[in-house]
Amino acid sequence: MKKLENLLKKMSLDQKIGQLLQLNSSLLNREKTNIVTGPQQKLGLTPEMLQCCGSVLNFDCAESMIALQKAHLEQDPLGIPMLFMMDVIHGCRTIFPIPLAMGCTFDTELVKKCVTMSAKEAAASGVHVAFSPMLDLVRDARWGRVMESTGEDPYLNARMGEAFVKGFQSDILDRPEYIPACVKHFAAYGAAEAGRDYNTVDMSEHVLREYYLPAYKAAIDAGALLVMPSFNTIGGTPSVANKHLLRDILRDEWGFDGVVISDYAAIREMRVHGYVETDKEGALKAMEAGCDIEMMSGAYPKHLKELVEEGKVSMEQIDRAVMRVLRLKDKLGLFENPYRYASAITEKVLSTSFESRSLVRKAAAEAAVLLKNDGVLPFSKDVKSVAIVGPFAEEKGIKGFWSCYGKDEDCVSVAEGVRAKLPDADIVTAKGCSHELLDRDTSGVDEAAKAAAGADIAILCIGEYQNHSGEGNSRADISLPYPQRKLAEAVLAANPNTAVLLFTGRPLAIPELGEAAPAILNMWQPGTEGGNAAADLLFGDAAPGGRLAMSFPYMTGQCPVYYNHMNTGRPLKKDFRTAAYCSRYQDCPNDPLYPFGFGLTYTTFEYGEIKLSADSMKPDGKITASVTVTNTGDRDGAEVVQLYLRDNVASLVRPVKELKGYQKIFLRKGESREVSFEITDETLRFWRADGTYGSEPGEFSLALAPSSAAPLTNTFRLD
Ligand code: BGC
Repeated sequence: MKKLENLLKKMSLDQKIGQLLQLNSSLLNREKTNIVTGPQQKLGLTPEMLQCCGSVLNFDCAESMIALQKAHLEQDPLGIPMLFMMDVIHGCRTIFPIPLAMGCTFDTELVKKCVTMSAKEAAASGVHVAFSPMLDLVRDARWGRVMESTGEDPYLNARMGEAFVKGFQSDILDRPEYIPACVKHFAAYGAAEAGRDYNTVDMSEHVLREYYLPAYKAAIDAGALLVMPSFNTIGGTPSVANKHLLRDILRDEWGFDGVVISDYAAIREMRVHGYVETDKEGALKAMEAGCDIEMMSGAYPKHLKELVEEGKVSMEQIDRAVMRVLRLKDKLGLFENPYRYASAITEKVLSTSFESRSLVRKAAAEAAVLLKNDGVLPFSKDVKSVAIVGPFAEEKGIKGFWSCYGKDEDCVSVAEGVRAKLPDADIVTAKGCSHELLDRDTSGVDEAAKAAAGADIAILCIGEYQNHSGEGNSRADISLPYPQRKLAEAVLAANPNTAVLLFTGRPLAIPELGEAAPAILNMWQPGTEGGNAAADLLFGDAAPGGRLAMSFPYMTGQCPVYYNHMNTGRPLKKDFRTAAYCSRYQDCPNDPLYPFGFGLTYTTFEYGEIKLSADSMKPDGKITASVTVTNTGDRDGAEVVQLYLRDNVASLVRPVKELKGYQKIFLRKGESREVSFEITDETLRFWRADGTYGSEPGEFSLALAPSSAAPLTNTFRLD
């Protein structure tokens, strides 16, 4: 620490401000030059500032990182290495299923393994920090960024958040293959009004604390070293200037002492929000809230010096922020080795290696959710002819949005996967229509239906293209586009042995498939090995392991729809069509088409009677809830046993049910196992009416069940 303090003492104010600056690599000078170009000028960058820039985002590969760092070290008067950051969201070059799919695995060990693999690839490309995990709770499938989240549940998101952080960092970042995680987007970005990206958020402290904050908190408790505030406002305050979030909660309550980095140009956007008149005021507000690094907007380099000279920002504030950045660099060992794990050779060896591809293939099968199966799946490998139809039949763009250095050409399409699986079968493909959202062209439908009619089995590959979800890609209508609906109608009518293979970055409203398709297998956006994983699943070499981490609505108009909602004073108790004066839609059920926690596989499970070890407990006691689960089908398989609770009466109305635990178990055919969960006072705590966190005595209901749709059957009391 003395070393860093001495370094700080040597730094001029400009050099300090440089540490608080993050630039796109394209803005950095690779040659020793004093010329400042247009885009640099726009950000208020001087040659001196460029020389001492503290961190970089968006660079190409190990070679380019090494060149940039080398040029920088030759120019920076104090030789302070830069930090290199990238969006390693679901893979680096080898792309894993999107995070929403990873949430569906309910398997934190697997997630951790996949993230570690990505961390290693990223580290070899010169990445020092991953802008991940994204832990925004998501309830509205219209929002494009639901694909980056692990879903609608605070408990599952928290467990997944921990797994991501441990996967990136291990416990102590003890090897250069591990890289720090940056938790984002703090906070509640997922609650953007009407599911439109960057939109306003407004919510009570209770909702924020109960649902939206737990996952960020869990990831920080797991050791995440950076936090990124969100783009949105909450209650009128942009997150990057939100003292309540960044100071009261993050630093003071949670004791976070790592680096806070703004989102892309978020400080400048405060002007656009109408929160500040000038960038100077923006810089002041962000500094006051405790934002250490400014990503790409020029308010800090342009105005911090002036603000210090005017006495509005103190040198102590600047020093605190700079020290956090220097500490991170020191932790990564950059002062000793500024290139860390970067190596063009290692990068090449690791990228899309056999080992990482095999892990993607496994993860994609574990994440896939079988939404419906009337018995057509798995298909027999003895089929003579197969028709693979739809816009995703031969599509290689199935890796998903935000895929870092991933390339479509690395991906295995469904057609390629099936051909490799059935080398002797007669396989035909037909696109039928495009995947474009606003297209109306159905001219290829007949030919596709004909191909389906002429084959033993048909695989209908439809859904949403990878660039139709992700940042900036909200949708007002999440049903299948018109040509794909027409294609589905025709193909399902043409061949009863059709399985729908869904590719999507968000839950879609697909009631027509729910009615007409004999089988629906949701692959999400499965990554580099998507087509192979699909073939494994379709032909029974793997079984679908996923359970929904986010509900699928019947109709877009139901959004936001989520299982852990309140009851209202007039809940819907009968069929929506005949109910009156209650909380319902006239034209659609309240419940989603496929609820959180739901997913079938190739075997079936039976749940025995739920047993509680006692009827009541004291705050220092516990109750064990257990159930015997039996594999009643004719294949081995995995089940996710889920614990749901309801606090029946409380000082604030509690949700109709909340996930409080889960266990993914593997049972051989015919095997039974008792699965137990411990309930302690901690399980029952919530953000109470008086603004404190704790339990309240009274009655609780419970279920141990295969999905959130199950009724709560047992009760106990907390005395
Ligand atoms: C996104 C962040 C991302 C950043 C840097 C922003 O537009 O909101 O999630 O980390 O860009 O690429």
